[in-house]
Amino acid sequence: MIGPADYSRWRSARLGSLTESIEERTILGLCGSLSGRRVLDIGCGDGTYALRVSQEGAFAVGIDISRSMLRAARTRAAAQPSHGRWCQASIAALPFAANSFDVVLAVTVLCFHRDPDSAIREAARVLRPGGSPVIGELGKYSSWSVSRRVRGWLGSRTWRSARFWSMRGLQRATESAGLLVDGTQGCVYYPPVAFLAEILRPFEPVLSRLGQLGAAFLTVKARKP
Ligand SMILES: C[S@@+](CC[C@H](N)C(=O)[O-])C[C@H]1O[C@@H](n2cnc3c(N)ncnc32)[C@H](O)[C@@H]1O
Repeated sequence: MIGPADYSRWRSARLGSLTESIEERTILGLCGSLSGRRVLDIGCGDGTYALRVSQEGAFAVGIDISRSMLRAARTRAAAQPSHGRWCQASIAALPFAANSFDVVLAVTVLCFHRDPDSAIREAARVLRPGGSPVIGELGKYSSWSVSRRVRGWLGSRTWRSARFWSMRGLQRATESAGLLVDGTQGCVYYPPVAFLAEILRPFEPVLSRLGQLGAAFLTVKARKP
């Protein structure tokens, strides 16, 4: 599994920081105004999104199954002003009452879970009516998924078991949980090569308007009726 050291290495590399900033902008754009909102970040990792929404004025709760990821998240949180808390739990059984959050974020976590449908149902349960899940996942029809699948075949345990999503599949899973899809968006259309990412990055907005084919990162925003 991916650990905190992998994440900080990824972020300090040019390709990683560029890609993370594009993904983050897309997710935050879908979240809308966050001031005063209660946000649950499921599979929060080392806290990137929970900390970011907290900077936007939300009260953030980050949950993750990995103790080392949570330790890294707490360390990062201590180094900046943020409002929130961290909790070790599985996305399969969230330790929160029904209807307790305005927004639930799920960023690249369903791809590593054996039962994403029940995890989305669980996210829907803890959302208040009118609240929004914002999901970011690994796109199936992209050069990134090809390279990750090859790494899986070559022995990477992380990528051998990962799931890659089509936008239709992600929408269907969201709707099956009783949620209404409000919008979808793709990003990261360039291949996983830093200099090509630099060259092609300016075309992201145009490609995103044309469709989701080729996007390494797929996002869905929905609403609990
Ligand atoms: C690829 S990381 C994404 C982290 C974060 N969402 C981000 O985008 O920066 C996936 C995270 O999901 C966590 N995870 C995997 N299975 C989980 C589960 N069943 N319950 C909670 N967290 C889980 C992992 O520990 C890891 O921190």
